[in-house]
Amino acid sequence: MSRVVHRSAFGGPEVLDVREVPDPHAGPGEIRLAVGAIGLNPMDRQIAASAHHAARFGITGPSGFGCDLAGVVDEVGHGVTEFAEGDRVHGGVLVGAAADHVVLRVPPAPPHLLVPTPDGIDDATAAALPTPGLTALAAVEAIRPGPSDVVLIGGAAGGVGVLAVQLARLAGAEVIGTGAPGTFDFLRRLGAAPVAYGPGLSERVRETASGGITAAIDLHGAETAEAALALGVPAARIATVASEHHLPGVHATGACAADPASLGRLAEAVIRGDVTVPIAARFPLSEIRDAVTLQSSGHVHGKVIVTR
Ligand SMILES: NC(=O)c1ccc[n+]([C@@H]2O[C@H](COP(=O)([O-])OP(=O)(O)OC[C@H]3O[C@@H](n4cnc5c(N)ncnc54)[C@H](OP(=O)(O)O)[C@@H]3O)[C@@H](O)[C@H]2O)c1
Repeated sequence: MSRVVHRSAFGGPEVLDVREVPDPHAGPGEIRLAVGAIGLNPMDRQIAASAHHAARFGITGPSGFGCDLAGVVDEVGHGVTEFAEGDRVHGGVLVGAAADHVVLRVPPAPPHLLVPTPDGIDDATAAALPTPGLTALAAVEAIRPGPSDVVLIGGAAGGVGVLAVQLARLAGAEVIGTGAPGTFDFLRRLGAAPVAYGPGLSERVRETASGGITAAIDLHGAETAEAALALGVPAARIATVASEHHLPGVHATGACAADPASLGRLAEAVIRGDVTVPIAARFPLSEIRDAVTLQSSGHVHGKVIVTR
């Protein structure tokens, strides 16, 4: 038998149950993954909580749960040549990642995605990368920071933020990151100068960056983008991942805008030690509700990971 997380209705963590089902198997043109770890994202709980949000992803009734995963191919169906048993992979399987086994068609149809997991990176770390990594890469690519830049990043301590901060630093930029005061030491360790989010943000940023800021990435609402505009940053050098807050000229971007192959480069940067992937907490699959409750708090530093 194999376990899957089933969502019976729309709602909070209480609508998620771990069910025992017969082992799934790879049919022709399919592979089966033994899931090692999944990474939780805000999107997972948003889809679980709201029929309206779920419908945007083509999901209507009850479904599985979770997207980002890492694991190993443990069955290969007839006709599949792209994968072999024992291949380590990570990627995204929309509302199906939270399970012991996942069966996928090959090649995976978007939005599903699988890329190789290089040696030297474990499943928990690999599962933390797909959605946050692609989102951070897209946001950083939109503003193209360099050594002469001072970049303000709003929501810098979250799953996307920790990667965006480090990618902007790797490009040579100085980074100012927003967080709650209790998050400041965490942000400093990532390489960002911390400022508190909330009313008065632009004044605090002005005090922190005496020479001004030159670019911004907003990962939480529109506060950071608005502060950057107020501080004279051109809209073309501001990126946001919150499409509902439209600001003229500001890059509205997200995971879909990034090249999936760039995940491989991100994993290599992790192996080299150029990028660290903070894991805030790990839960076994049997404690999926607790994991989702923690992720839903909105104040996690790095990633919440669920393992088998
Ligand atoms: N468009 C896309 O493709 C895409 C993809 C991924 C994510 N997203 C969106 O990007 C956002 C970030 O995702 P994530 O995975 O990084 O989320 P996350 O891990 O849940 O973010 C948690 C972080 O948000 C910070 N935060 C909480 N309230 C804040 C506020 N008022 N202002 C600034 N920061 C605040 C928290 O800092 P403190 O602990 O210091 O409070 C915490 O570190 C979410 O809105 C998500 O939906 C979009």
